[in-house]
Amino acid sequence: MRIVVTGGNGKAGRWVVRDLRDHGHSVLSADLRHEPWEWDDRCRITDLTDYGQAVEVLAGADAVVHLAAIPAPGIRPAADTFRINAVSTYNVFAAAEANGVGRVVWASSETVLGLPFDTPPQFAPLDETAEPRPESSYALAKLAGETMAAQFARRTGVPHVGLRISNIMEPDDYAQFPSYWTDAHLRKWNLWGYVDVRDVAQACRLALTAAVAGAEVCIVAADDTVMTRDSADLMAEVFPQVPLRRELRGRETLLAIDRARRLLGYAPTHRWSDHVPQP
Ligand SMILES: NC(=O)c1ccc[n+]([C@@H]2O[C@H](COP(=O)([O-])OP(=O)(O)OC[C@H]3O[C@@H](n4cnc5c(N)ncnc54)[C@H](O)[C@@H]3O)[C@@H](O)[C@H]2O)c1
Repeated sequence: MRIVVTGGNGKAGRWVVRDLRDHGHSVLSADLRHEPWEWDDRCRITDLTDYGQAVEVLAGADAVVHLAAIPAPGIRPAADTFRINAVSTYNVFAAAEANGVGRVVWASSETVLGLPFDTPPQFAPLDETAEPRPESSYALAKLAGETMAAQFARRTGVPHVGLRISNIMEPDDYAQFPSYWTDAHLRKWNLWGYVDVRDVAQACRLALTAAVAGAEVCIVAADDTVMTRDSADLMAEVFPQVPLRRELRGRETLLAIDRARRLLGYAPTHRWSDHVPQP
C-alpha cells in the first residue's frame, strides 16, 4: 500500500513510519520538519495548514495516517492550537477526497473524553459511549475532527478511523513511572492511562485494513494503568462518586479498549512493567 504519514517526524510518527515500512508498505512522511540527513524521496516538508500542499503530498496515495498536529494543550496559544489542528485536519480529509484516497486513519485524542477530569468522568471504565466533553481548544479541535470525519465518510463512502489515543510513551519514558506511584492524584487527569508508542503504531496499521464502513472512533490505550495499585482502589480514593459500569479486574485500564479490540483487532503488547521493576 502507498501510505502518507503526516507528522511522520514526530514522537508517534517515527514509530508509525518504521512499523509500516517493516510491514512492507511504501511510506511517504509529510511533516513541517525533517532532519537534513533524512531528506530523500520518502519524506516531504509540508505545511498542512496550506490546502494546496496537502493535495500535492497525498497525490497517488492509497491511504493516509494523519498524525500531524500541535500535540497537546498549552504548547501554543489556545486559538492557534485550534486553528492549526482543525485546519490541517480539514485539509488532509479534503485532500484525501480530492485524490481518491481510499482510507483515512487519524489521531484523535483521549482529551475529548473530558480530560483533565476536573469534572469527574461520567462513568468508568470510560468508553466511546460517553458524551464528549472537550475542556481545551486542543480537545475541541479533535472533536471537530471527529465531526468532519463523520461527514466526509458519509459523503464519500471512504472509511475514516479516528484513534482516541491515550498519553503516548516511548521506551525511555517508563523511567519516570515510579514517581507516579505514591500519589494517586498525580495522574488522575487521564484516569492513569497511557499507551506504548509501538502499540499506537500497531493500531494505526490495523486501522488501515480493518473492516470498517463510515467513520469510527476508538480509544487506544494500554490494557493497564500507570499505577501499581488496583484500579478499583484508585477510583475509590479519587473518584468515589463515579459509577463503575462493571467490576474492575486488577490494574485494568479505565480507558476501555474493547471497541479497538473488536473493531481493529487491536491487542496491546507493551506494558510499563516490561521496562520498570514493580515494587
Ligand atoms: N503525545 C501524546 O501523548 C498524544 C496523545 C493523544 C493524541 N496525540 C495525537 O497524536 C498525534 C501525534 O502526536 P505526537 O506526540 O507524535 O506529536 P509530535 O509533536 O511529536 O509530532 C507531531 C508532528 O506534526 C508536525 N506538524 C505540526 N504541525 C504541522 C503542520 N501544520 N504541517 C505538517 N506537519 C506538522 C510536527 O512537526 C511534528 O513532527 C497528534 O495528532 C496528537 O495530537 C498525541
